Amino acid sequence: MNRKSVLKKYNNKKILLKIVFLAAMIILGFSRFILHDQKQYADTSGDWRLILVDKNHYIPKDYRMNLIRLSNGKQVDSRIYPSLQKMFNDARASGLALFVREGYRTSQDQQQIMNERIREYENQGNSKRRATKMAEKYVAIPGTSEHQLGLSIDINADQTKCSSEKVYSWLDNNAYKYGFIKRYPSNKSYITGIHNEPWHYRYVGKEAAATIKKQNLCLEEYLKKYKQPDCLFYKIWRYTL
Ligand code: DAL
Ligand code: ZN
Repeated sequence: MNRKSVLKKYNNKKILLKIVFLAAMIILGFSRFILHDQKQYADTSGDWRLILVDKNHYIPKDYRMNLIRLSNGKQVDSRIYPSLQKMFNDARASGLALFVREGYRTSQDQQQIMNERIREYENQGNSKRRATKMAEKYVAIPGTSEHQLGLSIDINADQTKCSSEKVYSWLDNNAYKYGFIKRYPSNKSYITGIHNEPWHYRYVGKEAAATIKKQNLCLEEYLKKYKQPDCLFYKIWRYTL
């Protein structure tokens, strides 16, 4: 084989490699495009306290929990009840009048809340599309609400006895001691997708709550920093599940 034909063979190989690379990129791009419209489900195989449910992570249809009914009829996952009770006892001992306004919700409850909020914005003159986008800043898309997990509660003040500000401020300063976090702080809306909700608390356990509070993180940031290996293979694995 002379020098010219060796060079030609080498160049052909390079072209072939480029074609294979290009084809792989096109296939990868396509599958990403196709997968984009598919729902991603929350990973419920690990620590139940750290299940991430948000606009990108739907609750799996077969997710089950044991609910316990509070004295006012609201329900929560029974595993968070002792911490919730202790937090309320201590808050009341500090002179606060507070109550659980919302606990567990079914998917139908969530859909109804969403429909009502959309209608409200439509009645203000917004198109259906715009009204829906606006509503989704305050109400989680049905299937992605932490209330459906039973791990979140909305806590309100009994305003005949005490101001909301007092309750929200006490919770902000103390809830982490009982394993609860303010799930939608105003400065994290760009990550959570939900506007400031000083009443919505999520149980994550004492350890995670203390870190989240101390480091001023939201749950998405905490999980990214401490729980998910930042590895491409892991991401592909999760993405293609
Ligand atoms: N308001 C919160 C985001 C929910 O609907 O779960
Ligand atoms: Zn809530």
